[in-house]
Amino acid sequence: MDLGIAGKTALILGGSRGLARSAAEHLAAAGVRVAINGRDQQAGQAAAEALGNGAIFVQGDVSQPGVLEAVIAETERECGRVSILLTNAGGPPPGRFTEHGIDVWRRALEVNMLSAVEAAQRVLPAMLEDGFGRIVNITSFAVKEPYPNMALANSVRAGLTGAMATLAREVVDRGVTVNNVLPGLMATGALDRVIRARAARDGLSETEVVAAMEKSVPAGRLGRAEDFGPLCAFLCSRHAGYITGQNIAVDGGLTRSLL
Ligand SMILES: NC(=O)c1ccc[n+]([C@@H]2O[C@H](COP(=O)([O-])OP(=O)(O)OC[C@H]3O[C@@H](n4cnc5c(N)ncnc54)[C@H](OP(=O)(O)O)[C@@H]3O)[C@@H](O)[C@H]2O)c1
Repeated sequence: MDLGIAGKTALILGGSRGLARSAAEHLAAAGVRVAINGRDQQAGQAAAEALGNGAIFVQGDVSQPGVLEAVIAETERECGRVSILLTNAGGPPPGRFTEHGIDVWRRALEVNMLSAVEAAQRVLPAMLEDGFGRIVNITSFAVKEPYPNMALANSVRAGLTGAMATLAREVVDRGVTVNNVLPGLMATGALDRVIRARAARDGLSETEVVAAMEKSVPAGRLGRAEDFGPLCAFLCSRHAGYITGQNIAVDGGLTRSLL
């Protein structure tokens, strides 16, 4: 399917690995000029070169003051105005509600909620002026069903979901859509950290933890990055202009909620 967005510019925060990288691959294949971001310069540069279609890497930690402004400015300088924004960063550490001090809670808010809010605020004026924009946020299945030992993710992802649900209704009449894609248990970097933490906490091997996770998924396996990227790309397409304010899980049936 022709996504109808060839020639547009996408900024993919935290796009050098994992789920967001798969989205970047599908957007680049659709003829979109892609800027991916991450903290590791070498890995990011290599990922951008592999994407092709003039993709660039823009280094920066999205949770640090001033970084998003600089990342967006460089993207616009090199690739033009941002019509497509995908927000993402590494997930917060696992742990129970009382396990992390308030400073760790604040950092989770900075990394996994406020960075997305700030990025959206910064790219929105150009999107509204152009009458076209797509914002896709990677959140988590935990917004539908809080997951054990993931107090920070269960909390800050819900905050971002509320913020984006509000924004979606404020801008859709001007051609900008806002949606969230919710990974389930995906065999990418964030889950590796959860697996290691659960193995240490429960005295299990990592293989045993993975087997238990696979069993919990009706699809019978963990998800792959390739299961995730195509939906993100579709939500950024011309065809998705009437889809907004949605939370779509890519989870092999893991979450049992009706809606
Ligand atoms: N995998 C799952 O099962 C799962 C389930 C639910 C939710 N999620 C959430 O989905 C998101 C993506 O997961 P993933 O497994 O694809 O993660 P991943 O493989 O660890 O990739 C994370 C990406 O974000 C970049 N990044 C991390 N922190 C950053 C920061 N502060 N500023 C800029 N870039 C940053 C990383 O590059 P650098 O390290 O170079 O910065 C990398 O490109 C995460 O937020 C995760 O918590 C994942």
